[in-house]
Amino acid sequence: MNVKGQHYHTIWIDNTDLSVVKIIDQRYLPFSFQILELRTIDDVYMAIRNMAVRGAPLIGVTAAFGIYLALQNSTEPPTNQTITRIANKLKSARPTAVNLAMAVNRMLQGIRKSNLPDEQIKIALQTAINLKNEELENSRKIGVYGLPLIENITKHKKDQQVNILTHCNAGWLACIDYGTATAPIYMAHNKGINLHVWVDETRPRNQGARLTAWELGEHGVPHTLITDNTGGQLMQEGSVDMVIVGSDRMTPDGDFANKIGTYLKALAAKDNNIPFYVALPSTSIDWTLKNTAQIPIEKRDPEEVLTVKGWYNNHSVDVRIAPENTPALNYGFDITPARLVTGLITERGICKANRDDIHKKFPANEKQ
Ligand code: MRU
Repeated sequence: MNVKGQHYHTIWIDNTDLSVVKIIDQRYLPFSFQILELRTIDDVYMAIRNMAVRGAPLIGVTAAFGIYLALQNSTEPPTNQTITRIANKLKSARPTAVNLAMAVNRMLQGIRKSNLPDEQIKIALQTAINLKNEELENSRKIGVYGLPLIENITKHKKDQQVNILTHCNAGWLACIDYGTATAPIYMAHNKGINLHVWVDETRPRNQGARLTAWELGEHGVPHTLITDNTGGQLMQEGSVDMVIVGSDRMTPDGDFANKIGTYLKALAAKDNNIPFYVALPSTSIDWTLKNTAQIPIEKRDPEEVLTVKGWYNNHSVDVRIAPENTPALNYGFDITPARLVTGLITERGICKANRDDIHKKFPANEKQ
């Protein structure tokens, strides 16, 4: 998408220096637009862990480039043991989004096709680039398939404004471009559909306030920031036509983990008969899962709950909002059961959130 008129992806390799991977550093948005250079596997690990990059598809692609950088920087050919240690370290950076482990596994599969170090570096670079391009295309197709859902609502409303609620940032910043939840929104907006987005602030890290509001604003999509508790009230008064969220890890039955607070939005949407869609690429489906108890839910530093990050005098500052020594709990994600989901918007089209429908869309993957 465009930032101040210039087109950006969230991650790219520096074509003049193949030892540098560049990312948009999301820790400083919306206040400061900064590009961060990643040169080592440790840079990549820290960028994922500290959330300079975040969002399920993007952390997968970043980890893939991390493996490439690790090979590129090795003075002597890394042993199998070293590669496995690097892979496990990357996977542990953020546990919930399955895209991370999947991308790392795909890199390992690729590298193991050769024993020659130079060849392995080439394969690693090409595989990381392929993964990036695939996620880009996944998002684009999610937009294409999701657009008719918004068009139907606008038809029923006789072109009155369509109001869509979203949680966290499942926008282009969480992907490579377009986003997942936002892809249909951008397409509809580009087509001239009269729409407006309710943006949940998404405590504690405020990905909605900081990132979704910023990217929608940059693209000129009408939106309003709301506190996380406001969605229910808006639904009851008829001001929400549809909810679209992303997913970090879905079971083959359609139950899924997404940013903490998603479940409560799904409950409120069900109670108010409002369509609740999950936009996700198939790289966010974990085909090995038997149930949601197997999804590792990330617990983050309680400091994120006890403080709020803001911007003051050109610096990022943390402001304390609770008494000293208050115990705090900080789950990053929650689980929403498939029964609350109206449908999935995938790169292969729309389907119901159940095993049969998901299997029909992705017959090969289920066997993994
Ligand atoms: O903790 P984050 O910011 O990485 O969480 C991101 C989300 O929960 C997104 O909704 C999810 O990754 C889907 S992104 C297309």
